[in-house]
Amino acid sequence: MRILGTGSALPKRVVTNDELTQFLDTSDEWIKTRTGISTRRVITTETLEELGAQAAKNALENAGLSANDLDLIICSTVQGDQITPALGCLIQRAIGAKCPAFDLNAACPGFEYALDVAESYIASGRARNILVVSSESVSYLCNWTDRSTCVLFGDGAGAAVVGQGGDYLSSHFVCEGGDEVLRAPMPNGNSPFTQRPVSWSGLYMNGPEVYKFAVAGSIRDIRTVVEQAGITMDEVGHFVLHQANLRIIEAVRTRLKQPKEKFPHNIEHYGNTSSASVPILLDELNRAGALQKGEIVVLSAFGAGLCTGACAIRWSK
Ligand code: ACO
Repeated sequence: MRILGTGSALPKRVVTNDELTQFLDTSDEWIKTRTGISTRRVITTETLEELGAQAAKNALENAGLSANDLDLIICSTVQGDQITPALGCLIQRAIGAKCPAFDLNAACPGFEYALDVAESYIASGRARNILVVSSESVSYLCNWTDRSTCVLFGDGAGAAVVGQGGDYLSSHFVCEGGDEVLRAPMPNGNSPFTQRPVSWSGLYMNGPEVYKFAVAGSIRDIRTVVEQAGITMDEVGHFVLHQANLRIIEAVRTRLKQPKEKFPHNIEHYGNTSSASVPILLDELNRAGALQKGEIVVLSAFGAGLCTGACAIRWSK
């Protein structure tokens, strides 16, 4: 496959670190030095359907295609607007597409997992043009009284339209299944038979454990996809990493001995938007003309599951 176009969409509401200090025992200084985050966008009135559809329309326009050209929509989301129907189906309706659509939940590396599925559909000849869209509202999952998690996240959507081509050079996925260090439990319904505890606890994360998993996993995955692509680390033009923590990005960069300009970031503006973070950043780079035709771009993400995913792509747009 090859990437034909990218798009993104963000909620209007900007929330600064200082605003969080009004109801949390935290500070702008702690958040900035521990994570690199200054502001995040948070959903107020928007829906994930609206954000995802806007990102999708922007990606289609960037690709020079219309919704009728799509053969499949793969939507990466942790929770969607509703448990059912799938968010991908609502985005299909909103953009006026006629193709099949489904959701995929692989948490933060969901965009990379969705790209990999798209590659399989295209390589097998079952689809020509596919919309891969990530639309996430981590603000709905967070417990806003837990300062160790809620300050880290934001909401947003990113998308790519992919078509036929030979630009998907390699990929690598790892899952170490478990919910001990990172989870967001499903709220209970009102079954009179349930024996499960009824209280809602929101997102739980053991930050230092996830940090170690993220740095080691991202380095391992990047080395693997670079080797599988038959290139050297120095031949990679940009590394587009999941925007979870600037310290994670810096730790990966320094251990791979790469210059700062190859590891772009926007976490300072948007926080961690789960699987939307990589396509939002990719769209920013694309629209800024920062990606050279023919350069290799490595995408890498990690998160709940615990899962990681990375791929090496030739940028030929
Ligand atoms: N403000 C002020 N102090 C805080 C805050 C806050 N918002 N949050 C925690 N602290 C305190 C802690 O209570 C602790 O205090 P103590 O030393 O008195 O006990 C101290 O700061 C240090 O806490 P740590 O958790 O050790 O801080 P750390 O330096 O590890 O940073 C962080 C925490 C930012 C969460 C980091 O561990 C991290 O980024 N982890 C990875 C997160 C990640 O990558 N997630 C991706 C997946 S997310 C997903 O899939 C949905």
